[in-house]
Amino acid sequence: MIVVGIETSCDETGVAVYDSNRGLLGEALFSQVAMHADYGGVVPELASRDHIQRLVPLLDQVLEQASLTKQDIDAVAYTNGPGLIGALMVGATFARSLSYTLNIPAIGVHHMEGHLLAPMLEEQPPAFPFVALLVSGGHTQLVDVNGIGQYELLGDSVDDAAGEAFDKAAKMMGLDYPGGPRIAKLAEDGTPGRYKFPRPMTDRPGLAFSFSGLKTYTLNTIQAAKQNSDLSQQTLADIAYAFQEAVVETLAIKCRRALQATQHKRLVIAGGVSANKMLRDRLTSIAAKESATLFYPRPAFCTDNGAMIAYAGCQRLLAGEQEVDPIQPKPRWPM
Ligand code: KG4
Ligand code: ZN
Repeated sequence: MIVVGIETSCDETGVAVYDSNRGLLGEALFSQVAMHADYGGVVPELASRDHIQRLVPLLDQVLEQASLTKQDIDAVAYTNGPGLIGALMVGATFARSLSYTLNIPAIGVHHMEGHLLAPMLEEQPPAFPFVALLVSGGHTQLVDVNGIGQYELLGDSVDDAAGEAFDKAAKMMGLDYPGGPRIAKLAEDGTPGRYKFPRPMTDRPGLAFSFSGLKTYTLNTIQAAKQNSDLSQQTLADIAYAFQEAVVETLAIKCRRALQATQHKRLVIAGGVSANKMLRDRLTSIAAKESATLFYPRPAFCTDNGAMIAYAGCQRLLAGEQEVDPIQPKPRWPM
């Protein structure tokens, strides 16, 4: 089955073709990051308008890459939520129009299921069951995964997502959007141990997260340094290091607990923040301590992309599902 995947939930237009027999055949992405950078974050209306302009050329591009024509497509999968309503509407309308005109089935995919299954596109995909840590700009979740569609939520953030905390802390440090990669870069020059930030909610049992306190802690640290006339580039790098270390350590503590609670021997990380090098290194060592193996997508598939939507949609379609309801994107949608 040859499935086209369409991702437009936020600020990247992703299109891909996945074949259930041959794997990923083509994949293209347009990132709006530069366009939104001037505003310090994603402007929803600009995002929707840009998705409209990109979808047709991107689809042509991936079909050419895959040496296919539209007539070879068996089905179309699209992100039906969660995300920005206007942006989702563009992808959903485009995908459903393709489905109507080509007379092929369509399937609406949950964006986080896409992230969760992204490691399946790698050469050595994880087998079920596994613990998944989903860390993006909108979510921080630990999930017990027993198969396609068999997801049990183990822990969630009670306030900000980890990626959101990175983005907001970056803004305080005068860094551009998206903040995660920029903080990671700045932290490379940071002095370990100069600052120690709290590890929220690790002093009590459970798998819930909270990241909004770290944001306030970062702001207070920056202001204190400013008052002492010590807000040098080195100090900012030291703060970036301490912030990143606190987020990573907090995530690592909860991942270890989740592995112990489920007794699973595989840990999967996915979503934008899973691109973070310090997080990967820390989780590799945590997994080793629990005799478990860590799996993650290639960097391009950590952040939003069409390939993960094509893959997740293909699995759903093979299981006999298909979209029959009217076009109805869900900006909020529990997995
Ligand atoms: O999955 P994603 O592309 O979009 C959402 O579904 O939210 O994730 C974007 C998030 C942003 O908050 C970005 O700052 C963060 O992922 N991010 C990172 C890194 N790369 C992206 N955070 C920390 N370190 C990184 N290397
Ligand atoms: Zn995402």
